[in-house]
Amino acid sequence: MATLTILKYPDPFLKKPAASVPEKEDMEGLVQDMFETMYAARGIGLACPQVGIGKRVIVLDVSPVDEASKPLALINPEIISREGKEESEEGCLSVPELSVKISRASKVTVSGYTPEWELVQIAAEGILAIALQHEIDHLDGVLIVDYLSRLKREFYKKKVKKMYAQRM
Ligand code: NI
Repeated sequence: MATLTILKYPDPFLKKPAASVPEKEDMEGLVQDMFETMYAARGIGLACPQVGIGKRVIVLDVSPVDEASKPLALINPEIISREGKEESEEGCLSVPELSVKISRASKVTVSGYTPEWELVQIAAEGILAIALQHEIDHLDGVLIVDYLSRLKREFYKKKVKKMYAQRM
C-alpha cells in the first residue's frame, strides 16, 4: 500500500473528465492506495483524478459523520436517479481552505461496480448521497469552486496563489 499525492486546485488535471475503467481490470491495489490516501488526509471521500489518475474510481467512508455507514469503493459509478433537494457546506481535499454551500439531490441511487467487478446499486441519502454526488463530480472534472459565482472564484484563486507562494 502507498499514500498517493493529492492534487490541489488549480491543477489542470482536476478539470479533466476521467475515463471508464475496462471491465475486469485489476483494481485492488489502486483502491487500497486510495483508501490509505483518503484516511491519511482525514477525508470522507476521494476520486481517482485527485491522485492524478484519470480513471472513474471513487472511495468513500462517511462513518465520521454517519456512524452506521461502511467504507465504499465504486468503479464506473453512475447516478441513475435523484430525488429531493438539500443544501449543505462542502469541503474538498483538493480545494484547501474553502467550504461552499451547494444544493444537491437529497437522495440518489448510484450504480457501479465493486473492486471485484460485481455490479451493485446503492440507494443513499444524507451525507452519503452528498458525498457520492461530490465524488462523481470529480470524475467529470467538476470541483466545489465551480459552484461559486465568478467573482468569488476569482477571489479564491487569488487567495490560493498567495497561500502557495507563502509556502515556497
Ligand atoms: Ni472533493
